[in-house]
Amino acid sequence: MPASRFYITTPLYYVSDPPHIGHAYTTIVADAAARFHRMRGDVTHFLTGTDEHGQKIARIAEERGKTPKDFSDEIAGAYKQAWQQLGISYDDFIRTTDADHEAEVQALWRTLEARGDIYLAEYEGPYCVACEQFYTDKELVDGNCPVHKRPVDTLKESSYYFRLSKYRDALLTWYAEKNPVEPPQRMNEVRAFVEGDLRDLSVSRTTFTWGIPVPDHPGHVVYVWMDALSNYYSATKRAAATHGVDFWSDGTRIVHVMGKEISRFHAVYWPALLMAAGLRLPDTVLCHGWWTVDGEKMSKTVGNIVDPTKLADDLGADAVRYFVLREVPLGLDGDFSHEALLQRFNSELANDLGNLLNRTLGMVHKYFADGHVAARATAADPFDTAATVDAWSKHWDALEPSKALDVCFAMVRRCNTYIDQQAPWKAESDKVLILGNVLECCRTLAHLLSPVMPERSRALLHQLGPELSAEVFAVPVWEGMRPFSPLPGVPLFPRLDDDRKKALLDKWRPAPIEKAAPAVIDASPSASTDPMLKYDDFAKLELRTAQILSAEPVPKAKKLLLLKVDLGPHGQRQVVAGIAEAYQPAQLVGKRVILVCNLEPATIRGVRSEGMILAAGDDAILGLSTVEPDSVPLGSRVR
Ligand code: ME8
Ligand code: MG
Repeated sequence: MPASRFYITTPLYYVSDPPHIGHAYTTIVADAAARFHRMRGDVTHFLTGTDEHGQKIARIAEERGKTPKDFSDEIAGAYKQAWQQLGISYDDFIRTTDADHEAEVQALWRTLEARGDIYLAEYEGPYCVACEQFYTDKELVDGNCPVHKRPVDTLKESSYYFRLSKYRDALLTWYAEKNPVEPPQRMNEVRAFVEGDLRDLSVSRTTFTWGIPVPDHPGHVVYVWMDALSNYYSATKRAAATHGVDFWSDGTRIVHVMGKEISRFHAVYWPALLMAAGLRLPDTVLCHGWWTVDGEKMSKTVGNIVDPTKLADDLGADAVRYFVLREVPLGLDGDFSHEALLQRFNSELANDLGNLLNRTLGMVHKYFADGHVAARATAADPFDTAATVDAWSKHWDALEPSKALDVCFAMVRRCNTYIDQQAPWKAESDKVLILGNVLECCRTLAHLLSPVMPERSRALLHQLGPELSAEVFAVPVWEGMRPFSPLPGVPLFPRLDDDRKKALLDKWRPAPIEKAAPAVIDASPSASTDPMLKYDDFAKLELRTAQILSAEPVPKAKKLLLLKVDLGPHGQRQVVAGIAEAYQPAQLVGKRVILVCNLEPATIRGVRSEGMILAAGDDAILGLSTVEPDSVPLGSRVR
């Protein structure tokens, strides 16, 4: 049953840098979900904001010669501006430096301390400032932070601890009963972490001052993660004061959306803090995958950071929103490519959807002198609207935006096919019936697409008839007798020709960074006449080191094995490999191999394969290409 209250949050983004496509992705996911719930009539609250305290921000501000507050103001402003441009309809933007939030964090601290869940102790260990997190020696990779691959600091502090270990069983029970973490792979990781050696959490710092003061203990500031996580709760106090609705209460569906790298904070620390405070837990901790850009991690040094506002300047916000939600099923990693964006723009938005509207309005104005399509004589629905709306709702409820979009675009295709089959251009056709039905289908689509493309959906309604542009977006119902007086068409998504595409690519792409030259270049005319590969073509292959986690036979395929492989920070994948005649499954587990990561996924004998493992052998496979030494981090690029 639909929840009557819905509360959705994004992470509070660090103000270390302005937003890029990764931050935009999370925020667009949450925005689209919030828009769906508002359409359905749920009392909805959508929270985003910025994380401004802690050593990382203090250091960066100092490097720039600014106070942390001035620096935070600047970047928080950049976030707000970007979200406005991208059509983000947040209900509240919280900053961890907001006074009411600071007071809530201190109140929470007092509650936990009064309950005996906070104590003072000394700790020394490796600490990554970029993560704002202690690691154990075992978690380090070659002495480096496993996320940032950079040296860690050693931090020795007398600090306050939260009795996290006390909540181990309660957390495990919660996971078992509610399965709150999605997708399931992330639930498993989180559970394994808690089942391991769950230690108490250091929750105060004394070596810097840029943070919320710990009440009654001068010299300590609250650990930045405890500070930032608590915002999800403090924002509800604010909402209660201004809207009179308590979103942190039973009867609200609470969803936290984030990237998979911070699942532990949201699915372990945060719920344990809530349990300690006697507060209810979230319903869903939704961890999406990571975006790379042309196969690389986004980074300032590589110069490949994608600024979503620049893309929106040229294609409109809705095209960007559509692309990121359609390109990758939520939960999987995705690779952002500018070409793919242009490709989807032309083929799906300009062609399939835009052209549906265009040809329809063209015919309406050709066949009906006054451009008016009278009410039809029959209300029959040729497009399965009720079933479509039902599937669409279920996907949004399950937070599956790419599937919700698939449903919409299947309807677009049905409508285009209907026009082709009904052929309203034929003299004997019932033009009022056919075009009336198509217009009603377009109206339905405007509503169904509005969570993802609110601005273009509004423009679509307007073209269907100026009076329609005032319709409030709502779950659509087939209105089979409705007359229409549409405007002459203006393309919703003007098609990009090759010159325009090239101009956009040149504009968006940073100047290419010098790539290492191949070791030997033989350009002499006597060299082999076999076609040679340009280095740039070779460099398109995304090869990475991976470890085989499991191997099992594929039923009824004697050459194939299904492998699960681990790419370290790039996640896990499954691959179908034709190596069953060379290896027993048990021989493979633990082997470190090379995976072609950017091969299009394929379904082989009904099993999905997400890449290819490099192997040797002219006809039959004789062996695998493996990686030495073991210290090469998993997921490293092979070149
Ligand atoms: O972690 N692909 O903030 P942050 C997909 N302040 N999503 C990405 C991404 C990418 N390449 N890069 C960033 C923090 N994101 C803390 C959070 S919450 C109480 C405190 C998105 O600025 C994704 O949602 O590092 C990720 O979890 C978040 O930005 C990290 O933002
Ligand atoms: Mg981060």
